[in-house]
Amino acid sequence: MGSCSWSGHGRPAALVVAAVMLFWSAAGVGAIGANWGTQASHPLPPDTVVKMLKGNGFQKVKLFDAEDGTMSALRKSGLEVMVGIPNELLMIMATSMKAAEKWVDKNVSNYLNDGCNIRYVAVGNEPFLSTYNGSFLQTTFPALRNIQSALVRAGLSNQIKVTVPQNADVYESTTGKPSDADFRADIHDRMLEIVKFLSDNGGAFTVNIYPFISLYIDANFPAEYAFFDGSSSPIVDGSATYTNMFDANHDTLIWALKKNGYGNLPIIIGEIGWPTDGDMNANAQLAQRFNQGFMTHIASGRGTPMRPGPIDAYLFSLIDEDEKSIQPGNFERHWGIFTYDGIPKYNLNFGTPNSQIQRASGVKYLEKKWCVLKPSASLDDPKLPDTISYACSMADCTSLGYKTSCGMLDIRSNISYAYNSFFQKNDQDDVACGFSGFATTTGQDPSTGTCRFGVMIEVDSAFSWKLQRARSSSLLMLLLALVHLCLSFS
Ligand SMILES: *[C@@H]1O[C@H](CO)[C@@H](O)[C@H](O)[C@H]1NC(C)=O
Ligand SMILES: *[C@@H]1O[C@H](CO)[C@@H](O)[C@H](O)[C@H]1NC(C)=O
Ligand SMILES: *[C@@H]1O[C@H](CO)[C@@H](O)[C@H](O)[C@H]1NC(C)=O
Repeated sequence: MGSCSWSGHGRPAALVVAAVMLFWSAAGVGAIGANWGTQASHPLPPDTVVKMLKGNGFQKVKLFDAEDGTMSALRKSGLEVMVGIPNELLMIMATSMKAAEKWVDKNVSNYLNDGCNIRYVAVGNEPFLSTYNGSFLQTTFPALRNIQSALVRAGLSNQIKVTVPQNADVYESTTGKPSDADFRADIHDRMLEIVKFLSDNGGAFTVNIYPFISLYIDANFPAEYAFFDGSSSPIVDGSATYTNMFDANHDTLIWALKKNGYGNLPIIIGEIGWPTDGDMNANAQLAQRFNQGFMTHIASGRGTPMRPGPIDAYLFSLIDEDEKSIQPGNFERHWGIFTYDGIPKYNLNFGTPNSQIQRASGVKYLEKKWCVLKPSASLDDPKLPDTISYACSMADCTSLGYKTSCGMLDIRSNISYAYNSFFQKNDQDDVACGFSGFATTTGQDPSTGTCRFGVMIEVDSAFSWKLQRARSSSLLMLLLALVHLCLSFS
């Protein structure tokens, strides 16, 4: 995210695109896709994102719901679309065939007729994740069945397939060897129900695999094993040798499927990637190493020991999302290959020699204006800490931790970062740079080294009702902030 990553251009875009396209089609390898999430306070306009996807040679996109702005922008783009049903809708889809039919009618048929190339419906997103405490265990399968029936009734079941993106924690191997795998005991029967249904209906098993998380939660995890450039401690499993976690984890799934009689079920990697901030192992260098390693792996068409051949995958994620929950960790808002404003954080070579990743074009920024701590402000003022925690709770301070992109700031710059984050999130409204008189605006960019003090982008609020709602809630936030500050300092 540093200044060095700003140089994401260099050669004629059309040439690169043509070369990338040629490469993918000539090699006959699995197409590469991207996850496009929209939990951002200032999302890029959907048309800009679609251009960025196409310009970088992505052929597929995976969505977490069916927002109208997004779906409309994908019309006639040629991009293959996996459209998602959020977990919150699983209950109604499970209990009402009518709701499932309406969903398919409104969110599939409607856009399909409009030239949107929908290929998959993802029913739920990691619904069996242990943090959900089993909330979606009962509803996932019935929802899947109803959506499939609705697709059949709409005459779409040949061209559109169903799937359920699962976290890799739905299967395990007690010994660590892929061949000893099975689905987790507590959800074994539920998984088989789904797997059988996917198999019977030509669907695919979608799995999200995250070596970064393994490294994050387990201090003893061998870091080398997370990447694709060889490992000093490979896992030997019969005739197969695994030098990276992705292959081993992928084949653990194959063995779990095989053990239960579904060894040939197609597999889609629904999410794979590496974050760039918010944790000591999250930075542009490691993210590039991982993602480039993965791209090169799938570009080879080699596959894994248990399933040689093309790998079908969606990188996670396309763009940073500043409104994602940080419950899983501060890195959660930094999975993007691109920053919030469509700038590549590192180069990613999609297979052609010297190809350069392209930044988003035509992005409109607000003024070059930042909110900082006044040089005259006293750090000893007892009112100061409250203003900082307020800014951080409402905006985004996930780049301020130990060994993160802004972790090296001194205390004054640190406070400025928090203030600026709040100020930008509120569209540079003067009221959002008050902080009891501790703050002031400046035209001089305080960015330094890897630490970027952002300037927010303009949002075209016409394209989505969701944004209008977000706008008004951020205004409300601002009002509440004022009330809060007045109360605490009066
Ligand atoms: C279509 O999808 C959107 C976004 O996920 C959802 O809010 C809406 O309820 C869906 N429409 C129907 C008719 O189910
Ligand atoms: C799951 O259970 C834990 C502990 O009982 C609780 O803290 C958490 O809020 C629950 N999560 C959900 C999504 O229900
Ligand atoms: C910077 O701010 C963050 C968030 O308020 C805080 O956790 C961190 O300790 C601060 N670092 C310094 C050097 O003041």
